[in-house]
Amino acid sequence: MADNVGNKDAKTFSENVPFANNGDFHVKGASNYDWGMKDRLSRIFNPNSGKTVMLAFDHGYFMGPTSGLERLDLLIPQLVDYADCLMGTRGGIRSSVPASYNKAIALRASSGSSILQGDLSHESMVVGIDDAIKMNASAMAIQTFIGADGQKETIEALNKAVNLGSKYSIPTMGVVAVGKEMERTSKFFLLATRMLAEFGVQIVKTYYCEDFEKVASACPVPLVVAGGKKLPEKDALTMAYKSIQSGAAGVDMGRNIFQSKHPREMIQVVNKIVHEGYSDKEAYELFENLIN
Ligand code: R5P
Repeated sequence: MADNVGNKDAKTFSENVPFANNGDFHVKGASNYDWGMKDRLSRIFNPNSGKTVMLAFDHGYFMGPTSGLERLDLLIPQLVDYADCLMGTRGGIRSSVPASYNKAIALRASSGSSILQGDLSHESMVVGIDDAIKMNASAMAIQTFIGADGQKETIEALNKAVNLGSKYSIPTMGVVAVGKEMERTSKFFLLATRMLAEFGVQIVKTYYCEDFEKVASACPVPLVVAGGKKLPEKDALTMAYKSIQSGAAGVDMGRNIFQSKHPREMIQVVNKIVHEGYSDKEAYELFENLIN
């Protein structure tokens, strides 16, 4: 391992230079993957726009029935038309989502903590690869706690998923966790997103931050941005817009959609930002028109 003494901070990110190894494939860093992996990534990332709208509703795996997710069977049908990919647990999806939707699935495959504990950082890979295959998962999502107590076990879980995913051509989505004690700086996200990419994940889910262009440039696989806590719709749309403008390949939004009073209209306009180049202002105007 290189010693840390005299380590120079990264500074030349060439943010305005497109990724140079995409060949003719639309997903960043994926040109050398095999056919099955590319097929699954193409279910997640629309080949026309190269981007994705993921709908995250896996929150129950550690927090039970949070606001907006009391009834997945009633919620998902309202939103599914505007999502490219559904991110949920195997229990939530199998029980409450019709298989006939034929949507890409980002299957939550790690767990180990609950909100009854203070420290949520201890997770392992709990979903077997055989079940991920049976679910026809387009990706397995593994939470990783860089710089927290659970770092070693979650890095091991992530690498286990990458090993198994490589064997069966199922992408792994590394989820950058930010516990309440953890930093939310560009320095942290640069470190965490790049670490996950170097471990071999095909997608990284992270948060929007200052200097996001640098984070996106330094990460050789697509970044999808989590919504985080519920914001006013206008602000959430601005965050989605800035994320896409700064190099994100999509969003993976949960609470900012399902906790809106108008979740269907909200995901509809998020979709416009991600796939159709709407600005945040245009998207919010459309949102207001749709709800009035
Ligand atoms: C949290 O651990 C869950 O994995 C969610 O999928 C993630 O936080 C994204 O949802 P939200 O947009 O509500 O933050």
